[in-house]
Amino acid sequence: MTQRKILVTSALPYANGEIHLGHIMEAIQTDIWVRLQKMLGHDCVYVCADDAHGTAIMLSAEAQGITPQQLIDAMNSKHRQDYADFQIGIDNFHSTHSEENRRLSESIYKALDDNGHIARRVIKQLFDPEKKLFLADRYVVGTCPNPACRTPGQYGDNCEACGWTYSPADLIEPRSTISGATPIEKESEHYFFTLPVFKDMLRQWTTSGTLQEPVVNKLKEWLDDELQEWDISRDAPYFGFEIPGTTGKYFYVWVDAPIGYMASFENYCARSDYRFQDYWQQDSEAELYHFIGKDIINFHTLFWPAMLSSAGYRTPTAVFAHGFLTVDGTKMSKSRGTFVNARTYLEHLDPEYLRYYLAAKLSSGVDDLDLNLEDFAQRVNADLVGKVVNIASRCAGFIGKGFDGRLAAQLNAPELLEQMAQASGEIARHYEARDYGKAVRLIAALADKANQYINEKEPWVIAKQDRQSPELQAVCSTGINAFRLLICYLKPVLPAMAAQAEAFLAIEPLRWQDSQSLLTDHRIERFTPLMTRVEMDKVNAMITATREEYERRQQASPEAVEADEFAAEIEFDDFAKVDLRVARISSAERVEGADKLLKLQLDLGQDGRGNPIQRTVFSGIKSAYSPEQLTGKLTVVVANLKPRKMKFGLSEGMILAAGPGGKDIWLIEPHSGAQPGLRIT
Ligand code: MSP
Ligand code: ZN
Repeated sequence: MTQRKILVTSALPYANGEIHLGHIMEAIQTDIWVRLQKMLGHDCVYVCADDAHGTAIMLSAEAQGITPQQLIDAMNSKHRQDYADFQIGIDNFHSTHSEENRRLSESIYKALDDNGHIARRVIKQLFDPEKKLFLADRYVVGTCPNPACRTPGQYGDNCEACGWTYSPADLIEPRSTISGATPIEKESEHYFFTLPVFKDMLRQWTTSGTLQEPVVNKLKEWLDDELQEWDISRDAPYFGFEIPGTTGKYFYVWVDAPIGYMASFENYCARSDYRFQDYWQQDSEAELYHFIGKDIINFHTLFWPAMLSSAGYRTPTAVFAHGFLTVDGTKMSKSRGTFVNARTYLEHLDPEYLRYYLAAKLSSGVDDLDLNLEDFAQRVNADLVGKVVNIASRCAGFIGKGFDGRLAAQLNAPELLEQMAQASGEIARHYEARDYGKAVRLIAALADKANQYINEKEPWVIAKQDRQSPELQAVCSTGINAFRLLICYLKPVLPAMAAQAEAFLAIEPLRWQDSQSLLTDHRIERFTPLMTRVEMDKVNAMITATREEYERRQQASPEAVEADEFAAEIEFDDFAKVDLRVARISSAERVEGADKLLKLQLDLGQDGRGNPIQRTVFSGIKSAYSPEQLTGKLTVVVANLKPRKMKFGLSEGMILAAGPGGKDIWLIEPHSGAQPGLRIT
C-alpha cells in the first residue's frame, strides 16, 4: 500500500458563538473520515481554527464590554474543549486572528494585486450616522419594497414574507439595527476580486471530480450566469486585517477565513515535521479536502479555488458539502430548546451516543439530517448496547471465571469470523465515500450474525455442566473475536469505546489491517460495561436546560424589551382612572369632507332611572371599515375621556382599535353576551 498524504479541514466556526450540535455534526463527519485514514495507515492531518474576524465579533465584544481579543481568546479555549470532549481528533486548532494568517493573507492579496486581479472602485452603501459604521445587509431593517407585500421588519437583502431580493437602500423606512438611526447613503472606495476572469478555470475545476453532483449542478447555474466581482474590502471600524497599502480598509472576513486553513497548518508545521509547501505548492502531491455545510459552498468552490490559483497555490482535491442538522423534524430552535449547545449536550449525555447516531444517518449527499430524539435513544440502545456491547458481556464472564481470562488457541466458527474479516474492504470503501450509514448498517448486520451464533451455541448452558469445558472456551473466544472485529470497524465512529475495548482485550490500538487477524491463546482483562443505555429523561433534561437558558437570556437582555418599547410602568390607580365600557354601535355614517373619519352613535346601556345613554364619537377607521360593517357591533369605548371639539362636531369618547393604519386597523370587540354599559376591569 502506498501511503497517502492528506490534509483535511472542517469549516471554521465563528468565534462569537458557542459550538452547537450543527457544528458538532460537521466535526463528527470530518473526524470519522480522518480516523479511518489514520487507521488505514495514511498520513492524514486534520486542522481547524476559529473564524475570529468581522463586524459581528466587534459588536459582540463591545456589547460585553471587552476587547475583541479577549472575546476570541475566551471562545478559542471553550471551542477547543467542546471539540475535544466530543472526541474530535483535530491535530491543530488555531485562529484566523494569528500572525501566520496575517502574513499569508497579505501575501496572497499582493499576488492577486500583482496579477491584476484586484479592481478598485467607489460604491454607495448605507451608513449608520450615529455609529459611524457602514451597514452590511443584515444590519438594516425596514419595510419590504414589494408593493404587493409591504411587510415591516425585513432585513436589507431579502424579504422573508414574499421572497423578494433587493438592496438595503430600497427598503421603505430603513433603520440601523445597531443604533436605530436612519441610515444615509455614503460613498467609499472598495476593493474587488475579479472573479469573472476565472470563469474558465472554475468551469474546469468544478467539473473535474472535485464536487458532489448536486453541487456541480448548482454551480453550473452560477457559472452560466454572469459572475460578479467580489467585494473584498470593508471600511473601518472593522475587526480584521488591514489591507496592505491602505489605511482604514480591511479584508472582508471571508477573504482571510479560508486562508485560515493554511495558517492553521503552517502553525502546525512549526511544531512538527510537516512541511508547508509539500501540501500547498502548485504541484503538490498531497490531497486536500474541505468538509463544509451547504450554506457556504460558493465561498469554497468559487472564490477560494480562484484565489488559490491566482496566488500560485494548489487547489483543493475535493470539497465535501453536507446538509443541515434538524431536531425532531424542524430547524434547530432556541425557544423550543432544540438549539442545543455542545456543552449542554455533554452535561447530560455521552458524546458517543451522538457520534453513533449521526454516523448511522450520514451519507455523502447534501440532504438535511434529522436528530429525532426518540429514535436516537432507541437506536443507540438497540444497536450499541443491545447488539455490540452485549456480545462481549455475554462471553467475557465465562472466559474470566473458567479460564483465568485466557482465550482458546482454537476458535470454532471459522465461517463467521471469515465473513466478518472479509467485510473490511467494503466497510472501508463506504467510510471513504462518506456513506457512513451504509458502513454502520453492514457492521450492525455482522453484529446480528455474531449474536445469532452465541444464541445457537448457548454458552450459559454449557457452563452449567462444565465451567472449564474446551467447547465453552472456544465458543466464548469466538464471541470475543467477533466483538474485536466489530470494535475495529466502529473505531472511527467510537474512539473512546474502542480505547476501553482495547484495554479490556489487552491489545495494542487497533489498526484497520488488524481485522485480518485473530486473537487466540491470549489473556484478556476483566470486563467492565462499556456503555450504558440512553435514558430519555436525560434527553428531555437537555432540551429543558436549553430552553430555560434561552428564556433566562431573553429576560436578562434589555433588547428584548426595547424591541417593543412598552410605555412607562403605571400604578393600578392610574389604570383605574380610565373608565372603559362595552358599547354597541347603533349607527355609523360617513362624514362630509373628512376622508379618515366615521361618525358613530354608541349605545352605553341605561342610567339609574332607565334612560338610555348615548354618545357620539368620531373615529379614524374609515380606511378599514364601511359604516354597514359596523352597525350593530359591540366594541369598547373610553367613556370618561374629556369631550373634544372637532371640525365636524363634538367627540364624546374614543373607541379602541389596534393596528398600524390603512387597511390594517382592527376594532376591539368583546365576546358575544357582553352588554352595553358593562365596565371593563
Ligand atoms: N465562519 C464560517 C466558515 C468559514 S470556513 C473558512 C461559518 N461559520 S459557522 O459557525 O456559521 O458555521 C461553521 C460550519 O458549521 C459551516 O460549515 C456550517 O454549514 C456548519 N453548520 C452550522 N449550522 C449547522 C447545522 N444546523 N447543521 C449542520 N451544519 C451546520 O460559516
Ligand atoms: Zn415582501
